[in-house]
Amino acid sequence: MADRPAQRIMAGMRLLLLCALVCLSGAAEPSLDRAFAGRFAIGMALGARESADPAVLELAARHISAATPENIMKPGPLQPREGEFAFAAADAFVELCSARGWAVYGHTLTWHIQVPPWMFAGPDGAPASRDLVLARQRAHIAAVVGRYAGRIRAWDVVNEALADGKGSEDLRDSPWSRACGWDFIPNAFRSAAAADPRAQLLYNDYNIESGAKRERALRLVARLRAEGCRVDGIGIQGHWTLDHPPVAEIEAGIRAFAAAGLAVHITELDISVLPRMAAGGDLLAQDATGADPYRAGLPDAVQERLARRYAEIFACFVRNAVAIERVTFWGAHDGASWLNDWPVKGRTDHALLFDRALRAKPAFAAVLAEAAR
Ligand code: XIL
Repeated sequence: MADRPAQRIMAGMRLLLLCALVCLSGAAEPSLDRAFAGRFAIGMALGARESADPAVLELAARHISAATPENIMKPGPLQPREGEFAFAAADAFVELCSARGWAVYGHTLTWHIQVPPWMFAGPDGAPASRDLVLARQRAHIAAVVGRYAGRIRAWDVVNEALADGKGSEDLRDSPWSRACGWDFIPNAFRSAAAADPRAQLLYNDYNIESGAKRERALRLVARLRAEGCRVDGIGIQGHWTLDHPPVAEIEAGIRAFAAAGLAVHITELDISVLPRMAAGGDLLAQDATGADPYRAGLPDAVQERLARRYAEIFACFVRNAVAIERVTFWGAHDGASWLNDWPVKGRTDHALLFDRALRAKPAFAAVLAEAAR
């Protein structure tokens, strides 16, 4: 495209102007959630530390109407030993959200990570039988979903059950699939539907916006429905990078899920600026080493690339707003992002709209500008 450099300069200037306006006005920046009202809700995942940090809560109060507990509602923290539930942190989170008027998006009922090992252990150290695992899963979901019935807008019922890559297997090889084959998936959806008929039930995964994994996700939903399960929506995690995936793929994914009658939730959005080997968000796929080029801060040129990338992605969300219920960022600010530890431990990523001092980055202004179009 011949006019690309000129377009870039113009876009850069627009951004600078917007940032200058926000800074000069002296006021805190405008609310993201209000800016996108009528299109989709804006959410954030909050960790235990952020949920107790007044400065983060003030930032969140300005910008969100939806919150996801980052870790505290996963099965490991909730039921560390069979039959012994630790609900205090989750109770406090739900209370916090209702006091603030935030819809709670529950995460997650079934995952192969942060799941307590006893779930798969049988008598005498042997693996538990299929029936025992399914019964434990039912009991867990009945207790958790039942406790918060009416207070959770939607649940990520099953997280990351699909295989990556081009293989012929649809399901990921995991303790769940090894114990139960396919059956843990409908078991989860049935248990959740029974425990809270009002909660929306979602299937959540990374990389499902495109390629073989999109087809797998569509097949998974179709099969669940054919077996009589209610599936209301799809969670596209959105752990993306500056270059991947192309927006056209994201858009095609959103449309394909919407065409299948699913509400689309962007559940875990962040855009890493660091090099990584693995695409998507597979926690088990750690890179052994990796460069950490932005420890001292993000150079202006990369800051602008991040802003442009966020802008093109939000432009896509706006074009497809009828299909999208909410967009949740995975973390409140760069300092709280899991990407500082994945796929390489101890790096310095800059993947969110607010920096480590909770200041709005150029990407914030770029996203806001898309709401005004
Ligand atoms: C991450 C949390 O952010 C980390 O604090 C934790 O150590 C590991 O899990 N996909 C998911 C989320 O579905 O649950 C993960 O959250 C990030 C990838």
